[in-house]
Amino acid sequence: MTAPKTIRWGILATGAIAVTFTKDLLVDPKTRGVNHIKHTVVAAASSSSKSRAEQFLKDTGCPSDAKAYGSYEELVKDPNIDMVYIATPHSHHYQNAMFCLEAGKNVLCEKAFTVNAAQAKALAMKAQEKNLFLMEAVWTRYFPLSVYVRDLITSGRIGPVARVLADNSMALNPEESFNDGKHRMVNPDLAGGALLDLGIYSLTWVFQTLYHTQPESTRQPPKVLAALKSYGPTKAADEASTIVLNFPRSPEAGGDAHAVATTSLRVATAPAGNGDAPGIRIQGPNGEIQVFPPAFRPTRTKLILRDGTVEEKNWSQPGPGGGSGWYNGFAGGRNAEGEGHGMFWEADEAATALVEGRKEGKYEGLAESILIMEVMDEVRRQGGLSYPEKIETTKYPVQL
Ligand SMILES: NC(=O)c1ccc[n+]([C@@H]2O[C@H](COP(=O)([O-])OP(=O)(O)OC[C@H]3O[C@@H](n4cnc5c(N)ncnc54)[C@H](OP(=O)(O)O)[C@@H]3O)[C@@H](O)[C@H]2O)c1
Ligand SMILES: *[C@@H]1O[C@H](CO)[C@@H](O)[C@H](O)[C@H]1NC(C)=O
Repeated sequence: MTAPKTIRWGILATGAIAVTFTKDLLVDPKTRGVNHIKHTVVAAASSSSKSRAEQFLKDTGCPSDAKAYGSYEELVKDPNIDMVYIATPHSHHYQNAMFCLEAGKNVLCEKAFTVNAAQAKALAMKAQEKNLFLMEAVWTRYFPLSVYVRDLITSGRIGPVARVLADNSMALNPEESFNDGKHRMVNPDLAGGALLDLGIYSLTWVFQTLYHTQPESTRQPPKVLAALKSYGPTKAADEASTIVLNFPRSPEAGGDAHAVATTSLRVATAPAGNGDAPGIRIQGPNGEIQVFPPAFRPTRTKLILRDGTVEEKNWSQPGPGGGSGWYNGFAGGRNAEGEGHGMFWEADEAATALVEGRKEGKYEGLAESILIMEVMDEVRRQGGLSYPEKIETTKYPVQL
């Protein structure tokens, strides 16, 4: 066996998800049965100060020789970085990702990939021109749970999928939680709203079950009908979006398939907060697959067939384990001691692609990321939601 190859990461931004991702990244891949690669963090950058980057390196447990930068410019110039993980608000992804690609860096960029499809296309073209790896960090796609669900579908257990219902909703009380209107969930300057932040996961489930599972040669873009409710106080971000999609398929493949993708800041997928409602239902003539909330980090599935078969599964998030004193979680939330958050699987895939010389993610290539951005563009068009020109533009560079 050849020695594992180590991928050297640079972390661009020091916010909540950057912390969660970086902690997961530093978990030994062997704990999840991955032996061919390793990850290390060689630098992190904050746009506000070097001391913030230093604090970030400490909080996440990065190697003591990792560099702290007080600007993104310094980070992209660091010759020791193989891949940059971008964790700024989605309003900034286009400018930040273009900046990294121009500097010759491979990129894993948080969701939503960009503000619109035109930006996503421009990034894909730049990556191709520079022969660099570029992937949207839709971590859920890389969960073993997602692989299992897609395998259930392609193996025909429930028959051709006829309908998918997918919800990702939060019950956040936005007026109270985001009362100054500055939070990225409601702030138009940060491409705020439910659709780009949460609805992306409803669409992820729809696309990975109805689109990605089809042979590449037969995949066709869906038709889209949308209702969008704008958020009262800012009037320029959506508090809820509901999307009906029709996926064309040949009669042999089961004919057209329908999906309903929903998202809301105000109501919950599971009202009791305990994952009691299957937020995702994938239905075929022989039965259905249920995935329990949250849609972005599910840990439970249920296969129910018409012949009476019921298969329930729990999916663990491996980490250093109980007694390790190590904790991860998102934005103040805390998982059980030693339990990972599930972000390492996408990192493993990005690293594996680098080792293999691939330029795109295995379970969602750039064409699919672009198509999903096109669907969200169409939802916003039908719902009358646009963002400030400086964050919708494909012009580069623009100072945000
Ligand atoms: N995969 C997931 O589960 C997941 C979960 C949450 C969020 N996300 C995505 O990750 C991105 C960041 O979300 P987050 O929750 O980490 O947000 P956050 O806590 O607000 O962090 C964003 C970071 O971006 C940097 N930044 C640069 N310019 C900024 C500006 N004008 N306004 C605010 N921040 C700015 C800041 O770090 P420095 O200035 O120190 O660099 C800030 O800490 C979003 O695109 C979001 O959709 C993904
Ligand atoms: C999954 O976990 C839940 C909660 O801990 C438990 O009640 C259930 O029995 C488990 N199901 C399986 C199939 O292991």
